[in-house]
Amino acid sequence: MKNSTMKRILYLMLVALCMSFTACHRTEVCSPDGRLAVRFGLAADGVPQYEVVRDGKTVIEPSSLGFELADMSLRAGFRLCDSRQSSHDETWETVWGEERLIRDRHNELIVSLEHESGVKMNIIFRAFNDGFAFCYDFPEQERDSIVIMSEHSSYCWAQEPQVWSIPWRTEYYEALWSKAAASACDTACSPVTLELADGGFAFMHEAALTDYPAQNYTFNGLEMGTYLTPWQSGVAAYKATPFMTPWRFVILTDNLPDLVASRIMLNLNEPCAIEDPSWIRPMKFIGIWWGMHQGSMTWYAGPIHGATTENMKRYMDFAAQNGIQAVLAEGWNVGWDGWSTWDDTKHFEFTTPYPDWDMDELARYSDSVGVEIVGHHETGGNAAHYESVLDEAYAYYQAHGVHAVKTGYVYPIITTVDGKQFNRSQSGVRHYRKVIETAARYHICIDNHEPVMPTGLQRTWPNLMSQEGVRGQEWNAWAKDGGSPCEHVTVLPFTRFMAGPVDYTPGVFNFENPIIPDTRVHSTLANQLGLFVVFYSPLQMACDLPENYRKRPEAFRFIHDVPCDWEHSRLLSGVIGDYVVMARQERGGDDWYVGGITDEQARETDVVLDFLDKGASYKAVIYRDGALADWERNPYSLIIEEQEVTEGDTLHMAMGAGGGFAIQLVKQ
Ligand code: NOJ
Repeated sequence: MKNSTMKRILYLMLVALCMSFTACHRTEVCSPDGRLAVRFGLAADGVPQYEVVRDGKTVIEPSSLGFELADMSLRAGFRLCDSRQSSHDETWETVWGEERLIRDRHNELIVSLEHESGVKMNIIFRAFNDGFAFCYDFPEQERDSIVIMSEHSSYCWAQEPQVWSIPWRTEYYEALWSKAAASACDTACSPVTLELADGGFAFMHEAALTDYPAQNYTFNGLEMGTYLTPWQSGVAAYKATPFMTPWRFVILTDNLPDLVASRIMLNLNEPCAIEDPSWIRPMKFIGIWWGMHQGSMTWYAGPIHGATTENMKRYMDFAAQNGIQAVLAEGWNVGWDGWSTWDDTKHFEFTTPYPDWDMDELARYSDSVGVEIVGHHETGGNAAHYESVLDEAYAYYQAHGVHAVKTGYVYPIITTVDGKQFNRSQSGVRHYRKVIETAARYHICIDNHEPVMPTGLQRTWPNLMSQEGVRGQEWNAWAKDGGSPCEHVTVLPFTRFMAGPVDYTPGVFNFENPIIPDTRVHSTLANQLGLFVVFYSPLQMACDLPENYRKRPEAFRFIHDVPCDWEHSRLLSGVIGDYVVMARQERGGDDWYVGGITDEQARETDVVLDFLDKGASYKAVIYRDGALADWERNPYSLIIEEQEVTEGDTLHMAMGAGGGFAIQLVKQ
């Protein structure tokens, strides 16, 4: 070989070594619009890596993938055996949701790898116009079980983002979200929302979490990593081959309306597993609930017991007269007496009412007034006991005509059949799935409090309708810090709500609480109405007491009219942590609803009505803050007015501090 040729070969080898990916093992998949490319390659030593390029610019630098198993490392030592691509374009109909029809359009790349140990692992990448996803697929192989100690999916941001997050150990995910530069963040729960250096946005989360630990994100400079919520033994996941991990996805958009409109998470979940889901119906409900949180009623039996037959009938009468489909009752069953000193060796009875609750009579009354009962199962975190009586508990409710049950796990570490485990561990995830699947057999929908963070499972199990996993309204009744700041509700649509419907419980109409006087809902009345549009939940609770609603029938009219199932949803404008304006069209109807909310800053905003049908005229019923409304001094000042509008109009709306507005647009 000539000297010059030798030099050239050496040079090329050097270049190849310096490159993050070895050229021969590099393959890529592009989004259908061609703006986004996900490139996969094996770096030196067979380390699987990917990078992401958007509009020709690297957004995520080469980032490694892999696992640490109990008996070996799957972080290097791979060879590429095969890679194949396919395209997918399908529009599917949701049982309920923010949109009736969802388009799933993506290109897929599957890389088949073999580890030097013989373990086979595929990585599946999907490129969407608004982001990308990947998951690990361990196909059928000789080795039949895998013990995962940690997962090494990473995301090396090319430029430092600002990250909205809550700390990973936050009990029940009930914290205020905060923003910090990535390099200043500590381990955070998934999801996180990112403000990117180029003005764009990202949302990072997982989809289809069914038998695996919930993920969290670690931060090291610009590199984000994965931390799986472990079993108490330290193991992350016990798996039998074949299996697929949940999807890891990143939504990437230029602006917030596109971020909020992304349906990547639902598209990554499996289609509906319930053959005939016609029994699953979105509804609004009130409940024997706020009184307990405010301290004027008790869950346990006694002189101020909330869930009595008499009270329930009173609530049902109000619901029947005011267009509310159901009433929740908490504290109807034996087991609440030790609540204040709760420990998980005690348990609740799920088929034994307190003596002042007549379930048969209430089932009969429910039929006669046409208002459903929303059942309640607080487990106190004793998931093992709950599983042991699950069938009887759901059969009991079904026999009494109950179609929706709120579940709860108030204990930081739940007792599962596998011992005491984090509710976000693989053991906890299995428990929640078992509850959803069992409830489906009894035609019961679930509103899960203290859940594992939702990941879009409602596509497969649409009876999983709503969940908590948020610092909800209840904190405003008793939080030692006096209640959530006004900003909180303007952060949630871009963070927690991106992971799925939330049972936040809007609708406070009375801002005084003499029993716990230092607490406060930091909101005006108009802001509470706006939340019914801004916050999506197909089981939507109006949380206040009927007596408070009866005092303000004009304002309650909006809660009466607003739907909780939508044909289309559009973020009209907003800034994370400042304000939000959302428009939604009633499912199967012509009418639109717009909700606006602001933080502690009073502000004005234009609502451009270009989403209305051209040539049609609409009656706009506007519920807005009075000129001097503000959450602290004047929360009740509400103006209700009507005007004719068309798609060419713009409504100029003013919101007081902690204020908002709600607009109903009725097609004429
Ligand atoms: C916490 C839930 O979030 C709340 O809604 C419920 O009232 C209590 N647990 C009691 O189950």
